[in-house]
Amino acid sequence: AALRNRSSSSSSHLLRRCYSSESAPERKVAILGAAGGIGQPLALLMKLNPLVSKLSLYDIAGTPGVAADVSHINTRSEVAGFMGEDQLGQALEGSDIVIIPAGVPRKPGMTRDDLFNINAGIVKSLCTAIAKYCPNALVNMISNPVNSTVPIAAEVFKKAGTYDEKKLFGVTTLDVVRAKTFYAGKAKVPVSEVNVPVVGGHAGITILPLFSQATPKSNLADDEIAALTKRTQDGGTEVVEAKAGKGSATLSMAYAGAVFADACLKGLNGVPDVVECSFVQSNVTELTFFASKVRLGKNGVEEVLGLGPLSDYEKQGLESLKPELKASIEKGIKFASAN
Ligand code: NAI
Repeated sequence: AALRNRSSSSSSHLLRRCYSSESAPERKVAILGAAGGIGQPLALLMKLNPLVSKLSLYDIAGTPGVAADVSHINTRSEVAGFMGEDQLGQALEGSDIVIIPAGVPRKPGMTRDDLFNINAGIVKSLCTAIAKYCPNALVNMISNPVNSTVPIAAEVFKKAGTYDEKKLFGVTTLDVVRAKTFYAGKAKVPVSEVNVPVVGGHAGITILPLFSQATPKSNLADDEIAALTKRTQDGGTEVVEAKAGKGSATLSMAYAGAVFADACLKGLNGVPDVVECSFVQSNVTELTFFASKVRLGKNGVEEVLGLGPLSDYEKQGLESLKPELKASIEKGIKFASAN
């Protein structure tokens, strides 16, 4: 028994050595829009992540307070706040991952596309700075409309000569988070065990949860699947209406953003088989950008995974989302080339 104990404790010690935060490589994460509704709780969650060694918080206003506050938490990362455009370069320099929740959120009655005019300009200027100061960073785009802001980012990087399709991600994790929560509730299965891929894009009907592939399996009826699909697609609007003019999802989005950034960090650190859904440059359909399962690795996207078998309902959903998603992608590209 003594021997057994010794060997198991030494192997767990080894495991600790391999995976503990002390041996995790240095990683700098920058959050642009860090003083906002999403930015603040996201800064908190990234401060709790032991894979982060430097946390850089940038906004046009309010970051000194957020940074001072978060910096007192006794976890690994060093926190620094940066405010205003003349500090943007310093905020970005040396970043491994840049997370962008900068921009305006929806109010009741607005679609994500209604945000286009303001957010497109913000994303364009932030991406121009990324190309200059940290061209090799992975970019996690949260600012809406994601279906257009990701193509805008791609065009900005192409113009700057720094575009690497493996390093640009539209964050659609909140759609996955919602699909998992709603499915678990309906199918009465433990939520922590649930997996549901969500593909397509990140707005209304372009959000296509694939409940036919959900695990653990369940025998939900067609009308229940249709209701779950609609609730996942309208999840953002559910929150916008409940907040009644005070913005859109911030806390659940911060959680989702932290989950996705953590997956990116694990991929960079060489952890095998890290798979998350994300809106990326894609050959899965005829559309140039598309959300699907993506394997993350040391260079960002290791492999864009296919759709897998779809139900007839999902096949129909896929065909109906294509025109809207295509138009949103083109709108982004057009904006980037005209401005
Ligand atoms: P918010 O208004 O609370 O915060 C936005 C922050 O961005 C503010 O602190 C503002 O000062 C900052 N900002 C504005 N211009 C900037 C610039 N040029 N550089 C740096 N920071 C700048 O908004 P919230 O609720 O945090 O939402 C942010 C964005 O995230 C919105 O576009 C929203 O639609 C999007 N969103 C995306 C989701 C997704 O699933 N991908 C889910 C929920 C929201």
